[in-house]
Amino acid sequence: MIELISKEKIDSSVNRIANQINFDYEDRNPLFISVLSGSFVFLSDLIRKINIDIEIDFIKVNSYKNLKSTEKINFKFDLSTKIKNRNIIIIEDIIDTGLTINTIYNYFLQLKPKSISIATLLFKKDRSNLNFDIDYVGFNIPLDFVVGYGLDYNQKLRNLDSIFLLENKDL
Ligand code: IMP
Repeated sequence: MIELISKEKIDSSVNRIANQINFDYEDRNPLFISVLSGSFVFLSDLIRKINIDIEIDFIKVNSYKNLKSTEKINFKFDLSTKIKNRNIIIIEDIIDTGLTINTIYNYFLQLKPKSISIATLLFKKDRSNLNFDIDYVGFNIPLDFVVGYGLDYNQKLRNLDSIFLLENKDL
């Protein structure tokens, strides 16, 4: 495996996003909605740099088997908070094809929140095709498969503390 993004770079990017959210959401009590499983590490670092009132909830979806998208999103569990009239911020680990975030975004939209924004640590911008903006992006990355800092390969390697490119010889 080759390190793609060091923990120092991740830390400063998470800081930058937190500062923007602190500024953009002062007095708006946003609800952070973390998309499990991959985003829990990003969420946990991010929220500890947030200095305004926030709330947190989780949804769990999955779409990947091995290295390929199954092109089907399964909701494993849903929110426990009502989001009507709330300012919500969806927290993602990575946006690849955009299928997952598109499905989640449209699902939340029909629940009539006051606003929706999206924060993702990693964005494979060259592949995704979205008709809404991603508001907070940690890093635009190439299309290769990455692991660590919450991101898995077949449920493993989430515990690495920086982000690595998975090479063929690692499989
Ligand atoms: P999308 O629906 O194609 O945007 O894929 C989103 C989901 O696929 C993410 O939340 C991850 O769970 C998974 N995924 C996409 N690319 C990678 C990667 O490079 N490493 C690990 N998981 C990935």
